[in-house]
Amino acid sequence: MAEGADAGVGRAAACLCVLCGLPAAGKSSLARTVVSTAARYGWRAAVVPYDDLIPEQAFQTRVLQAGVKLQEMHTEWKVHRQAVLQCVEQVLKKSGVLAEPANTCQINGAAWAQCIQALLQPEALNCSQPEHAPLLFLLDDNFYYPSMRYEVYQLARKYSLGFCQVYLHCDLESCISRNQGRSQTIPTEVILEMVKRLESPNPQKNLWETNSISINTTDSLSKCDIQKVMELILFSLSNPLTPIEDNTEQKDADRLKCATSVVHQADQACRRLISEAMKTARENHMSPDQMRSLAAH
Ligand SMILES: *[C@@H]1O[C@H](CO)[C@@H](O)[C@H](O)[C@H]1NC(C)=O
Ligand SMILES: *[C@@H]1O[C@H](CO)[C@@H](O)[C@H](O)[C@H]1NC(C)=O
Repeated sequence: MAEGADAGVGRAAACLCVLCGLPAAGKSSLARTVVSTAARYGWRAAVVPYDDLIPEQAFQTRVLQAGVKLQEMHTEWKVHRQAVLQCVEQVLKKSGVLAEPANTCQINGAAWAQCIQALLQPEALNCSQPEHAPLLFLLDDNFYYPSMRYEVYQLARKYSLGFCQVYLHCDLESCISRNQGRSQTIPTEVILEMVKRLESPNPQKNLWETNSISINTTDSLSKCDIQKVMELILFSLSNPLTPIEDNTEQKDADRLKCATSVVHQADQACRRLISEAMKTARENHMSPDQMRSLAAH
């Protein structure tokens, strides 16, 4: 099993919460609200803003816009996404690593330092039991393909963490107009391109996406939305994932052996019953013909 299970997370529960949706759907503002709510609960919470962490994000936007070499871009960008998750993993493994800079050049170190700064704030700790204060990471990216979200799920599973997803459903028109009001706008074509690719969480199709909710962010966020998100996080904190069993094959073999043994035992029991029936018949002086027919039966 993963070394982090006891060395890192210890008894403090942690949760990885994926925020996905179109650009300008309101992910960052939801993340900020959730972080401050979590701090009031005495949790340690941090937003992981992919846009700031991955310098290549801008590059990705350009390629998406041009609509070329999608596969190539996908591969390259995956490396960066994995670097982000490696940094998260470092924190999960060892709380001491918090103060150290990210040891990967694949992400923006300054942005990462800022991201984990929130975890160092003394007021973010629950003073009565700092070591039990849950750790919450809000992963803020578009996450438009399930495979992108699955990488986060795998990390959560490796360390027996809580895992959940919030899909921010926002009317396309609203996203576009909100985006246009920003200082750093994303080209509308990119948003349109993403709409085509977006596959929102689908628990019916992907069992691992069970802990997902969708909130409508076409208008502003309501208290009820925040409540729903906090409840989802609480639920996943108290229902952490189980690390995958590596011995699937052994288990299959054991199951087969067991099934075979059941058949074997049933066969033995049958034979015993038959032999007893025959013995009883002999004792009752049954005719050879009757005996033969009974045996055949
Ligand atoms: C610390 O955590 C406990 C249990 O989760 C909670 O009841 C309490 O309100 C928290 N304390 C602070 C200061 O938030
Ligand atoms: C989201 O909210 C907007 C505005 O309240 C509403 O027009 C729209 O129908 C809602 N969308 C969904 C999918 O519920």
